[in-house]
Amino acid sequence: MRIVSVVGTRPQLIKAAALLPALRRRHDEVFVDTGQHYDEAMAGAFFEELGLPRPDHSLGIGGGSQAEQTGRMLPAIEAVLLAERPDAVLVYGDTNSTLAGALVAAKLGIPVAHVEAGLRSFDRRMPEEVNRVVADHLSRWLFVPTPAGVANLAAEGITEGVSLVGDLMQDLAARVSADVRDPAALAATVPSRDLGLTPGGYLFATVHRAENREPAALVAWTALLASVASAERPVVLALHPGTAAALEAAGIRLADDVRAIPPQGYRTTLTLQLHAAAVLTDSGGVQREAAWLGVPCLVLRPTTEWVEAVAESDGRMVVVGLDRARAADALARIAPTGAAGATLLAERAARIPLVPAGVGDSIARLLDEVVR
Ligand code: UD1
Ligand code: UDP
Repeated sequence: MRIVSVVGTRPQLIKAAALLPALRRRHDEVFVDTGQHYDEAMAGAFFEELGLPRPDHSLGIGGGSQAEQTGRMLPAIEAVLLAERPDAVLVYGDTNSTLAGALVAAKLGIPVAHVEAGLRSFDRRMPEEVNRVVADHLSRWLFVPTPAGVANLAAEGITEGVSLVGDLMQDLAARVSADVRDPAALAATVPSRDLGLTPGGYLFATVHRAENREPAALVAWTALLASVASAERPVVLALHPGTAAALEAAGIRLADDVRAIPPQGYRTTLTLQLHAAAVLTDSGGVQREAAWLGVPCLVLRPTTEWVEAVAESDGRMVVVGLDRARAADALARIAPTGAAGATLLAERAARIPLVPAGVGDSIARLLDEVVR
């Protein structure tokens, strides 16, 4: 089959890296990058690190409001699809690039395959929720990572073309995490060299959701991070450029023990998670990675679509929103400092349950089967 796959953001480059080898073994793939993420540290560096081929089409569409960005993508993707005439269009996740790819394909009558279908936060104020719902309702193949996703789709009347395949990102995380378990891997990272990080001696954070860039939310989560950070256990915050810009516009300074670092590569990010006392994040990808690595995790959002990750975490993953008291309570329980913390860290290292699930192969095969 001739498949156009559409990516645009950091997590989509990571997902594409997990799927692309399997996809190309069976299919003729045309790789399209909308350019939604464009900084070297957010996009360019991942091509090299993850061995991704250069895109066949780079559309160079990043920045702007939700509508501007999505709007500019539509005619650009349409031109590619008219020229390439694929049998299917494959989109990943829930970004504006996902929405644009699915919408243009559906309008041209080209079947859509959606990887990471069925997830719902049930909060339509999130741009991602709107993107997911629309992409799912336009898709012929719905590759679902979790049982809850299948139930969500059924509740919306979608049962045809639904396959529970597991989580594509787990395959990549399983491959890489085995290499970075050794504390020497942490010592070799630039953030560790710059900040003198030790296993269990810091908290790792990422924050980038649109709702967490609103002024009141910026005040709340920077205060939350300040309250859990200390000289003995600083917060290392890998700062998304959009979040950095929002902090600057709001005139908010981070506390001294909250150490901002630039966006990191994939391997370094897994390393920083694996050796942290805990992770604090509003990222969907980081949440799951923390769960797979068994690292305590506070979710800095009021809801999560990764309900199984919370339910199966033995209490190690807690949805705290931006509530400082809940964050402090949860950390005291799941990531205590001192001897208790050291024991938990040692136990964790001994039982990383991560194995590749072969999700890329399943998706590539199912694309064949449904069409025939
Ligand atoms: C997008 C996705 C979000 C995903 C995230 C992954 C949507 C609606 N949101 O959010 O679901 O979790 O990517 O990281 O699609 N910027 C730069 N350089 C870059 C990229 C972004 O400076 O390389 C800045 C720009 O000011 C831009 C802002 O960040 O306007 C927001 O970027 P955008 O791609 O619109 O949304 P994200 O917040 O990255
Ligand atoms: N990630 C990364 N560098 C960073 C922060 C995150 O490589 O500085 C990785 C992270 O390990 C995960 C993915 O990016 O694999 C998650 O993407 P992101 O948080 O941007 O988006 P989301 O998953 O929330 O859509």
